[in-house]
Amino acid sequence: MRIDVVTIFPEYLEPLNVSLVGKARARGLLDVRLHDLRNWTHDRHHTVDDTPYGGGPGMVMKPEPWGEALDEIAASGEDKPVIVVPTPSGRPFTQRLAEELSTRPWLVFTPARYEGIDRRVVEEYAERYEVREVSIGDYVLAGGEAPVLVMVEAVARLLPGVLGNAESHRDDSFADGAMANLLEGPVYTKPPLWRGRDVPDVLLSGHHGRVERWRRDQALTRTAANRPDLLRSCDPETLDKHDRAM
Ligand code: ADE
Repeated sequence: MRIDVVTIFPEYLEPLNVSLVGKARARGLLDVRLHDLRNWTHDRHHTVDDTPYGGGPGMVMKPEPWGEALDEIAASGEDKPVIVVPTPSGRPFTQRLAEELSTRPWLVFTPARYEGIDRRVVEEYAERYEVREVSIGDYVLAGGEAPVLVMVEAVARLLPGVLGNAESHRDDSFADGAMANLLEGPVYTKPPLWRGRDVPDVLLSGHHGRVERWRRDQALTRTAANRPDLLRSCDPETLDKHDRAM
């Protein structure tokens, strides 16, 4: 997969050299290209923002640098990219969207600063490309760079070959198996006793069926406590069926 990021803070994206994403890049599974938006300005001050029409606080990113940058980048590959615009006004970023994006050959991210990008940029590119306006949560950040780090990591770990087998299997079962829509329960490792605290007996029992039943109960309890909205969106039939089956 190819990923381009256009930003006025390329250095903000340096974590993409580290850990899972860094390794995926080093192994040639992911081709990440960072671009400084100011390279597509023509004035001495490399201006990317201006005051908003209609008044109000803050600044708006000018359309011209974005237009030149996106024209040049989008013309530099064989496929058509999907353009992902991080904005608190976008559709929620979910595991489902991450899965969908992970099947695309090419993503271009356009993280904005200030009050956002002149609306005409999205309108212009939506005529020729698939444009997704995406929010990573109901809070406002100072810019879209942190959301890009979040989205790239969520997408990269789904790419074939990026995760080891053991990990990917576990996650698949969470995505749409018996544990769909449930939060992961607690996990334990050695030693069996730490500061007077035991690992739950069932996990040491070697009884696979009981371990699965316990994990599901833990997931249900945790989901009820932390995300009752997820439980409500579970199909009660499915919940009952799996709970009877285990
Ligand atoms: N830019 C600022 N806040 C954001 C958010 N919550 N999601 C995506 N982009 C953003």
